[in-house]
Amino acid sequence: MEKRGLLYEGKAKKIFSTTDEFTVWIEYKDSATAFNGEKKETIEGKGRLNNLITSLLFTSLKEKGIESHFIKQVSDYEQLVKRVEIIPLEVVVRNIAAGSLAKRIGWEEGTPLKSPIVEFYYKDDDLGDPLLTVDHIEQLELASVEELKTLKEMGLKVNTILQELFNEVGIQLVDFKLEFGKDVDGKILLADEISPDTCRLWDKETGQKLDKDVFRRDLGSLTDVYSIILTKLGGPQHV
Ligand code: C5P
Repeated sequence: MEKRGLLYEGKAKKIFSTTDEFTVWIEYKDSATAFNGEKKETIEGKGRLNNLITSLLFTSLKEKGIESHFIKQVSDYEQLVKRVEIIPLEVVVRNIAAGSLAKRIGWEEGTPLKSPIVEFYYKDDDLGDPLLTVDHIEQLELASVEELKTLKEMGLKVNTILQELFNEVGIQLVDFKLEFGKDVDGKILLADEISPDTCRLWDKETGQKLDKDVFRRDLGSLTDVYSIILTKLGGPQHV
């Protein structure tokens, strides 16, 4: 399999075509962005950490029956994945009130939720990724009611698996964002990435934030905390 031309460049990744029409080549970038691109920095090594962490997590999820676009990691910064058409929804699953939910419902950050909450956001930078109701999603024809049911079920299943995985290594999975895509046969697959960029992860003992809030809120070195996550998950040491 060979890497061909650039298909798309996003905030955190570049996507290239390959010699196989059903496969694309992803390159993780060393850029960190927050607040819809308003805060932006280059952080050496970040792309490698997210690539390695995502590869480990997608591999663990596959072992537990969750199908994703992930095929294999090809280098420190690169992955091969199945070509999918991304559903323009961000599926957020929450276990503990934090971030925008804490703000929206007026709860103190860190308050446990009675049961996990699933939310859908419109993946649209111009609109600032707004929260959508099921009626909005139907009106916009972004997904059918049946598909939304599948997304919610898959989100909750991923939550159960990841909660257990992180819990075993002393980390609390506060919340996370998933994206899904459809393959050539219309099958829904988990896509994009799962990394400290897309999850809130807190040390169970100390409460230390080990995720992108470190960058959003200027709390220290992002690569230091992402390296802690990689190491705890059994990945190679930071180089
Ligand atoms: O900001 P908010 O509290 O809604 O974020 C919920 C979770 O979704 C966090 O883990 C955050 O990192 C993730 N997220 C993301 N990409 C977005 C919005 C949120 O990865 N565009």
